[in-house]
Amino acid sequence: MTTTDLKRYLAVATQAALEGGEVLRHYWGKIQHVQHKVDSGDLVTEADRESEERIFAILQEECPDHDFLGEESGLQRKQNGEFLWAVDPLDGTTNYTHGYPFVAVSVGLVHQGRPIVGVVYNPILNELFQAAQGQGATLNGETIHVSDASSLNKSLLATGFAYDRQRNPDTNYAEFCHITHISQGVRRAGSAAIDLSYVASGRLEGYWEQGIKTWDIAAGAIIVEEAGGKITDYDQGDLDVYSGRILATNGQIHDQLCQEIVKIRNSR
Ligand code: IPD
Ligand code: CA
Ligand code: CA
Repeated sequence: MTTTDLKRYLAVATQAALEGGEVLRHYWGKIQHVQHKVDSGDLVTEADRESEERIFAILQEECPDHDFLGEESGLQRKQNGEFLWAVDPLDGTTNYTHGYPFVAVSVGLVHQGRPIVGVVYNPILNELFQAAQGQGATLNGETIHVSDASSLNKSLLATGFAYDRQRNPDTNYAEFCHITHISQGVRRAGSAAIDLSYVASGRLEGYWEQGIKTWDIAAGAIIVEEAGGKITDYDQGDLDVYSGRILATNGQIHDQLCQEIVKIRNSR
């Protein structure tokens, strides 16, 4: 893949994220219909659906041969999965319905299983995070870099909890308590895409979650990597965007955070 290709895909992802963000701004504070999916806390609104329709129309127009995975419309296959757009049209729906402005559009391009382009846009706080493989990462056009904190007791972290937590005993609650105890704090702000972008921009030192979906992390993963951070599975193996587990850090605290999470998981 050439740099020209990557720049074009980044421009397409940016246009899609900005247009999705326009939908989120339009419905902000005016949501009429909140529906529950399978699990009671898992919400969907007209803003999620319309944002995804707008994004999909752009991707379809610009990259008609690429596969598309959207949270609301599922997988649409055009080829053998070589290029896959993984899109969350509204990451942080619960926040959105409460007027809590930690929400984002997340548009990631995965090539042969690896994220290569990512755009995360918070249309309420007007923050645009962008990255493409080998091109660095930016926030509103300025280069960003992960923090240089070197231990957990100097770190602010983030995590999240999957919607199946009332029926799945593997809840992440014990990990949350333990890491809270040995760090400067663990935030649960409700948007994985923004959590990852905040690791990339040095506002957080690390983030982990399980039960997470490809559309939540594809864009944020490449943004963290391009900002100099590290992304793996819990076993420190390469990130598998389909595995449901992610550990993202500034690199310096990676081993320590990984060991503490695994220690708690093994003690159950
Ligand atoms: C959720 C958010 C949340 C994370 C959940 C996700 P949604 O996405 O990213 O932070 O903890 O696992 O499902 O439902 O708001 O798009
Ligand atoms: Ca999401
Ligand atoms: Ca969503």
